[in-house]
Amino acid sequence: MGDSYVLYHDQIIKNGALSVDFEDRGYLFGDGIYEVVFVYDQKPFALNEHFERFIQSAAKLELVLPYDLQTFKELTQQLISKNKVHDGMVYIQMTRGVAPRNHLYERDMQSVVTGFTKSVSLNTIAESQSNGVQTYLTEDIRWLRCDIKSLNLLGNVMAKRKAADFDCQEAIQHRDGTVTEGSSSNVFIVKNGVLQTHPANNLILNGITRQIVLKIADKLQIPVLEESFSVDDLLRADEVFITSTTMEITPVIKLKGASDQTYKIGSLTKQLQKQFKEQIVTSTSAMKS
Ligand code: PDD
Repeated sequence: MGDSYVLYHDQIIKNGALSVDFEDRGYLFGDGIYEVVFVYDQKPFALNEHFERFIQSAAKLELVLPYDLQTFKELTQQLISKNKVHDGMVYIQMTRGVAPRNHLYERDMQSVVTGFTKSVSLNTIAESQSNGVQTYLTEDIRWLRCDIKSLNLLGNVMAKRKAADFDCQEAIQHRDGTVTEGSSSNVFIVKNGVLQTHPANNLILNGITRQIVLKIADKLQIPVLEESFSVDDLLRADEVFITSTTMEITPVIKLKGASDQTYKIGSLTKQLQKQFKEQIVTSTSAMKS
């Protein structure tokens, strides 16, 4: 395995040297948060935005941040360099810390920070970006604070499993007929030239990719509706795509689980994909190696 170094507190150590305490609240309660950042050409993309969200997630759960934003960013960069990641992802996690099991948490605990990288060939994501993916519609059974990037992902993983069982790469979730988001992505539809996605409230994670897509759409003067839409709207959409750090902008070509629907990969999706790629090149070439 190439990515053999991991982050533990503020140290970069060999993977085998890391041991997690079984009384870590992340392990016992899923009591913690995380971020996934993509690395292009050895440089993390949208690192500031990811750590700003990380800090917001920490504040919402009263988790204690052991370092400032700058230190988190530097440690992430060190981990990327140490593992010589050319393209791939960095995962950074912070749990509330270690204590004898008790639902009640203390506010002065020492958080436990861990992280790893995974090298990925860009060809693997390029394929689904050009050919699109199949999705499966399923009920959103998650809690009501999906805006927090918490380690509690049971609803998400159950949805993903169900999608895979129907030969789909992603689940699209709905709450009482209102489409929220994917199991690990945000969902956009296009109807009559208007781009629409669920508003960034407590029912979805405000994806960094989602925010970049909205900025690109604004720049291109594409009309945008940040308003919730129904399963019927999803079925009647001209184009559908999902966004995430690891999937970028991926077209949806099929929706199973309701009345099955197929979609074409539309011109607006392609236009946004192109601009997104350009943004990656601009931002990585602007950063020093
Ligand atoms: N997931 N919604 C959910 C539930 C997610 O888990 C993710 C990302 C997104 C998209 O967010 P972003 O654009 O910031 O990646 C939306 C990451 C990639 C993961 O858990 O692996």
